[in-house]
This record gives sequence, C-alpha cells and structure tokens, in this order.
Amino acid sequence: MTPGTGMKHEMVVVGALETNCYLVYCEETRDCAVIDPGAEPEKIVSTIADLELKPVVVLNTHGHVDHIGANIDIVQKYRVPLGIHAADTGMLQVSDYIELSLLLGAKNSPPPDRLLAEGDEIAVGRKSLRVIHIPGHTPGSVGFVHGGVLFSGDTLFCGGVGRTDLPGGSWKDLERSIRDRILSLPEETIVLPGHGPHTTVEQERSSNPFLT
Ligand SMILES: [Fe+2]
Repeated sequence: MTPGTGMKHEMVVVGALETNCYLVYCEETRDCAVIDPGAEPEKIVSTIADLELKPVVVLNTHGHVDHIGANIDIVQKYRVPLGIHAADTGMLQVSDYIELSLLLGAKNSPPPDRLLAEGDEIAVGRKSLRVIHIPGHTPGSVGFVHGGVLFSGDTLFCGGVGRTDLPGGSWKDLERSIRDRILSLPEETIVLPGHGPHTTVEQERSSNPFLT
C-alpha cells in the first residue's frame, strides 16, 4: 500500500491456478480483510498467524472457483462474514463445476452475509476499502480501492485482461469497466490482480496490448 495510508497488504499465492489471495490490514488494529481465499487455507492461516492479523471479513472479487474455493475454511475458522456481489452468488456452489473443483481442492462456499455493491465502504480496522463494480469477466466482478491501490481481481492483469468466454462473461462490459472505471483512476494507482505480478494504471494505459 502507499506509505502513510495506514493500510498494508500481504499476498499469498494459492492453488494450481496460482491465485493471488490478499490479506489487507489496518496497521493500527491488525484487523484484516481476506480477499479471494481460493485454495490452500493452511497457507493463508499460517500467514495470518505470522503477521498477527485479525480477520474481520472475507471478500471475493468474483465467484470463480479458484477465488472462492477456501471461503468456507476462513469463514468458519475466524467466524467472519463473507461478501460478494449479488450477480456472482450463483457460482458459490463449486459442486456445479465438479472436475475443476476436485483438481483445485475447492469446497462449496457458505452463502454470503453481505452483498457488495458499487460505492460500498468495507470497514477494516480504522480504515476501509471502497467497492467498484467492474462487470465483464463475470457479471458480479468487483474491485477494492484504498489509498492509491486497486485490487482488480481477474478484470485487469499486468499486460492482460480477464477472459470473457466463460458463462456470464462479456467483452463489451469488460472493456467499458476497464476504460471507464480503472483507467480513470490516478495513473500512479498500483493494480494488484487476481493472478500474476502487480502493475500500475499508467503502465496498462500505455502498454497493455488489449487496450492500446
Ligand atoms: Fe476468474
């Protein structure tokens, strides 16, 4: 996170599809949001313990199985609420995608306690994350913004964009979300995607081959 914002994050790469799970925390209280616990809950739990964090919420950037497969482990262990956009709640039953779920070791998610919507502020200690609705990769894809940082899920990657060929995907929506909602953020904004390395708004605006 940007120095001085009072929030920090730690990335934990989990599962066969190398999903970036992020622990986003308030430096003052150590309260933390767990974004996209997709697999390998023991790895996430041990990082939480190492950093002496206190989970207060689980958040999903979207409902794909590699992002939600360990929701249940984190929700049950820390007894915290789960938030996801209403349009992606139908994806939380991974038994609907049985082969991929077995491959990834994903489990059915509990139902959400909170439906995320554009403009919501999610409290994390004395700080908060702002929700932006960025459909396209899935209808319920969201990003989380705080202090010069965007957690972009699978909408925008370093040098790439999210696929739109899966059920509910839309290239038209994805392009509009990226151009109108993400590239309009300050150019120094750091983008932390759901897979792969981080980037910035400026870098993607000038060199992303899908957008130039
Ligand atoms: Fe995805």
